[in-house]
Amino acid sequence: FQRKKDRAYKIYSLVRDYYRFLLTSEAGAGAIQYLEQRQLSDVARNTFEIGFAPPGWDNLTKLLLAKGVSGQEMAQLGLVHAKESGGFYDRFRNRIMFPIWDHQGRVVGFGGRTLGEDTPKYLNSPEGEFFNKGQLLYGLHIARKGIREQGYAVIMEGYMDVVSTFQQGVTNAVASLGTAFTREQGKLLMTYTHNIVIAYDADAAGSKAALRAAEILQELGAQVSVATIWGAKDPDEFIQAQGLAGWQQLMAKAQPLVQFKLAQAIKKHGIQNSAAKERVLQEVLPNLAAVASPIEREDAIKHTATVLQVNWETVVEAIRIFKKNTS
Ligand code: UTP
Ligand code: MN
Ligand code: MN
Ligand code: MN
Ligand code: MN
Repeated sequence: FQRKKDRAYKIYSLVRDYYRFLLTSEAGAGAIQYLEQRQLSDVARNTFEIGFAPPGWDNLTKLLLAKGVSGQEMAQLGLVHAKESGGFYDRFRNRIMFPIWDHQGRVVGFGGRTLGEDTPKYLNSPEGEFFNKGQLLYGLHIARKGIREQGYAVIMEGYMDVVSTFQQGVTNAVASLGTAFTREQGKLLMTYTHNIVIAYDADAAGSKAALRAAEILQELGAQVSVATIWGAKDPDEFIQAQGLAGWQQLMAKAQPLVQFKLAQAIKKHGIQNSAAKERVLQEVLPNLAAVASPIEREDAIKHTATVLQVNWETVVEAIRIFKKNTS
């Protein structure tokens, strides 16, 4: 069994090396051009081992067959598809290839981005024995050092965000591979730090997902804040426009979960009268009640009271009732 696993890791590494080689070959000229147009330098290519899967149906299939890997095995590893007529064809074609590693730095799958507008924009390895999106954090083995040095981690949505911001000096970021952050990912990250900032995309899906991720992390006992990207779609575009200094300001302004949720609830309900304030308060109560640290909780209560223009005793009383009703 162990041998079978080791063999799989070896094959994934071989595939990564093959895609990397192709990126710098003649076939990769368009891909290099694309990366340059997105300001992705050698750092991206070397640290994040980005490569290129060429167009064509059987480039990888042929290579692996020659190396003694059967089509069945390739299919099991999510690298090829079986044809109905027999035989196999490459899963990844004409895409920029991002290897995806586990937290020990072993390649366990790939994400491939189109160079153009075809869909899906990103094609990932299929879920399987090695590639479980919900249990992986992209770039964790690379960010480990930065997380230790800076004392906190940043969670982003995409590979591009992590690679692009790393290049500009943000060395403590990982990606959740989309917006559905899981408890498993939270636990994994919390073996490295309990201080976490969520920096998801600036769209509605991003802020909704940020809230959900923050709640999961708070439940696990993390100190979690949410950064609100402004003037750009995502961390990649933000840092291209604002630089590392802008990024650091953004991190400094990240809001603790309760404050972020309060702001969201106010956007939704307003605070023009008592009924609106009540609705806002009801939305943040579960989060207020869940703050583990007494000092943090007091800060959150005071902040909530100030924003709603009520006495802090009122908020404390509301929390007491909420806890009584939910216990
Ligand atoms: P985004 O759509 O925000 O992509 O998806 P992005 O990171 O900004 O990429 P660029 O800048 O357009 O190149 C964020 C993440 O969601 C997952 C990927 O993990 C991606 O990094 N995703 C997105 C997919 O798996 N498939 C998709 O088609 C789109
Ligand atoms: Mn811990
Ligand atoms: Mn997005
Ligand atoms: Mn982007
Ligand atoms: Mn994005």
